[in-house]
Amino acid sequence: MNIALLGFGVVGSGVYEWCRDREDLHVRRVLVRSEKPQIADIATHDFEDILHDDSIDIVVEVMGGLHPAYEYVTAALKAGKHVVTANKALIAAYYQELTELAKAQGKALLCTAAVGGGIPWLVNLERVKRLDSVQSFCGIMNGTTNFILDAMHTDGSDFSEVLAEAQKLGYAEADPSADIDGLDIQRKAVISANVAFDACLSEADVPVFGIRSILSCDIAAAESRSRICKMLAFGEKSASGAVSCYVEPCFVPSGELEAAVSTNRNVISFVTELTGKESFYGQGAGRYPTAYNAVADCADIIGGVKEFYTSLVRDVPVDNNAASHPYYVRFSGSDEFLSSIEAEKCGEGVVTMPVPVAKMHAWAAKAKEADPGVFIAGLI
Ligand code: NDP
Ligand code: HSE
Repeated sequence: MNIALLGFGVVGSGVYEWCRDREDLHVRRVLVRSEKPQIADIATHDFEDILHDDSIDIVVEVMGGLHPAYEYVTAALKAGKHVVTANKALIAAYYQELTELAKAQGKALLCTAAVGGGIPWLVNLERVKRLDSVQSFCGIMNGTTNFILDAMHTDGSDFSEVLAEAQKLGYAEADPSADIDGLDIQRKAVISANVAFDACLSEADVPVFGIRSILSCDIAAAESRSRICKMLAFGEKSASGAVSCYVEPCFVPSGELEAAVSTNRNVISFVTELTGKESFYGQGAGRYPTAYNAVADCADIIGGVKEFYTSLVRDVPVDNNAASHPYYVRFSGSDEFLSSIEAEKCGEGVVTMPVPVAKMHAWAAKAKEADPGVFIAGLI
């Protein structure tokens, strides 16, 4: 099959290299913005050259951002081409529209690299759902923040220095705020919840708190309780059918699987009704791991896959007050809500009694106005 790449950055160049020696996948055209001398013979600045080229079977979108990625992916599907993308922002924002368009066109829309980088998480989620019902998922879904937190725990690294290193290694988003503020994970959680529960959540349904304000005293507070700070995403379906889904830093007991995940690695687990817990571990970001999953999606299309990971998109109620746990909170100044919760001192902060997730996130969002340095972490 013939591929056209949209974008030739970290992931796009990896896909190109991966396909170079393959007999079954050929990169015929590459849409570029700036000049890329190494692919001058197949580069174009005009998407129409790709859209109207009938020899192109699969458009691989690895340029990122919402626009013009949305317009290009939509046009490619309408033109009868399969689409593979690593762009979680795009899929999370246009989930229902794009999955329904692909279904109507009878074309594949695959985005395995979008969640978990090199981990075949979405593929396995789809696979287990053929037999079993997914009750919950949880995991580390961002390589950049795990890289930062791991370095802060293991050698006391400075936040900004280690973020710069993650950017150099190609882990971070074009705007790394998406990583450190948890928005990248929020998008991955939306896609995971929608696939896991045949739902139609949007980013607004998923409360998020990032690690922008984390300090070494918070790392010390976690360690004082034999815990490790990790950025986690959660999704769970209750017996009533409502879904809870949220993203936050967590102090994880040091014996747990997530606590042992180092560098840019991710681990994501699901719990199903009959199979129980299964976990998927690997590199969550970087050129070759991510490109691997994009190329594997193309190989699946050669193998006959012509679908998204689920064909169901249902309106599902969201209830983030159904989940509740203690929180570590570091906040300067006095506050009525915090004073009303029973809490014990922990380093520079406190650890509260269990608080509903939606309530704590709503408080934290408001508390940032009074203290931009406020930090919260769930104790799970
Ligand atoms: P890069 O910034 O390295 O690459 C993006 C490429 O797309 C650049 O070459 C850029 O051109 C090009 N581009 C951007 N806009 C246009 C446009 N309008 N027309 C033509 N080319 C364009 O990003 P990544 O490769 O890291 O990420 C790509 C996608 O993959 C993103 O959606 C990201 O979220 C996702 N992803 C990335 C992972 C990673 O580890 N890096 C992991 C999983 C997913 P120019 O070179 O001129 O800037
Ligand atoms: N910026 C993302 C991360 C890329 O660090 O996980 C992989 O999705």
